[in-house]
Formats: sequence, structure tokens, C-alpha cells
Amino acid sequence: MNELTLHLASAKDASLIFGIRNLPESIKFSGTGQPVTENEHFVWFENLLKDKGRRLWILNDGIDDIGFVRVDLLDEAVGQIGRVSIGIKRESRGHNYASQALGLLTLQLKDMRDFYVERLRAFVHFDNIASVKTFRKAGYAEVNTENPFVTFEILLSNES
Ligand SMILES: CC(C)(COP(=O)(O)OP(=O)(O)OC[C@H]1O[C@@H](n2cnc3c(N)ncnc32)[C@H](O)[C@@H]1OP(=O)(O)O)[C@@H](O)C(=O)NCCC(=O)NCCS
Repeated sequence: MNELTLHLASAKDASLIFGIRNLPESIKFSGTGQPVTENEHFVWFENLLKDKGRRLWILNDGIDDIGFVRVDLLDEAVGQIGRVSIGIKRESRGHNYASQALGLLTLQLKDMRDFYVERLRAFVHFDNIASVKTFRKAGYAEVNTENPFVTFEILLSNES
């Protein structure tokens, strides 16, 4: 198996993310249920890279960039909660890469001094079986179900 790595995204990664975002299964299970236009995506992407409350990583399988993991800090009164999103290119699925990427994400976050997260949370459509299995396998707990989304959470250890 190739070695998976995560690295922070830059402007050149916009097309990879656009391709995954507009796949039918991504649209179906997204919060809006709608595709985005190329122009909307590129504006969104540029703002994302400048936003101190968000981080985007690219997943590489040793040969190609194959997906992404994103964390958006949620504006909550207690604790630093990061909302996780994840996506893998179709041709690279079927190897449980996403659950491994979530493990790598935890390690990356422990090392980051400018982006503090205490708890990661994901909202997953309950028909999105691949995603539900991914978060379970990565050790996330199901803390709530509010039709049609399951909320998954994991507490990040403060020990370094
Ligand atoms: C979710 C996603 C990242 C998982 O990618 P992946 O790591 O390649 O996942 P896999 O294809 O290896 O599937 C993970 C598990 O789900 C199972 N699975 C996948 N599709 C399935 C289906 N349609 N029905 C039943 N099980 C399915 C796999 O067999 C595997 O099971 P296992 O853990 O028992 O081996 C990928 O499907 C994706 O990018 N989806 C579109 C974007 C998305 O929905 N993101 C999540 C939103 S939070």
C-alpha cells in the first residue's frame, strides 16, 4: 500500500476540490443538495485559503493528490469545535483511505500552534454509508441524530 500523507492546500488545488464537490453523491449528501458553479467555487476557495478559522488539507497517496480534509471552526461558546468535511476522488475510493486520513488529521492538529481544536465534529447524511463507516472506523462517536444527519464527534487529546 502506498503511504498516505496530508499537506496544507494552496491555490493550485482548487480544481481537485471542485471535481469532488460536484460529484452527484457529494451533491446529494451536501447541506444544500445543490451543485456549485465554477465561479462560485473559485471565489469560495480563495476566501477559504485566507480564513484563519478554516484549514484545508490535501490527501496524497504517494503518487497523486486524491482527496481533501477540511476543518471549519464552529462559533460556539464552549470549547474549540472544528467541523470536519472529507472527500476522495472516485477512482481512489474503496481502500478506507478516508478513515486513515482522519487519523492523520488528528496528528496534524496536535502539531499546529496557530489552529487550536479541542473536538472534531462531522454531520453525515445517514444514507451516506461510506461516510458513516469512515467516521466510525476512525473512532468518532455518534452523539446525535437529527433527520437526516448523524452527528459524529471525537475529542482530541491535549497531551503532546
Ligand atoms: C466518504 C468517502 C470520503 C469515503 O471514501 P473511502 O475511504 O474511499 O471509503 P471506502 O470506499 O473505502 O468505503 C468505506 C467503507 O464503506 C463501505 N461502503 C462504501 N460504499 C458503500 C455502499 N454504497 N454501501 C455499503 N457500504 C459501502 C466500504 O465497503 C467500506 O467498508 P469497510 O469499512 O467495511 O471496509 C467517499 O465515499 C467520498 O468522497 N464520498 C463523497 C463525499 C462525501 O460524501 N463526503 C463525506 C461528507 S461528510
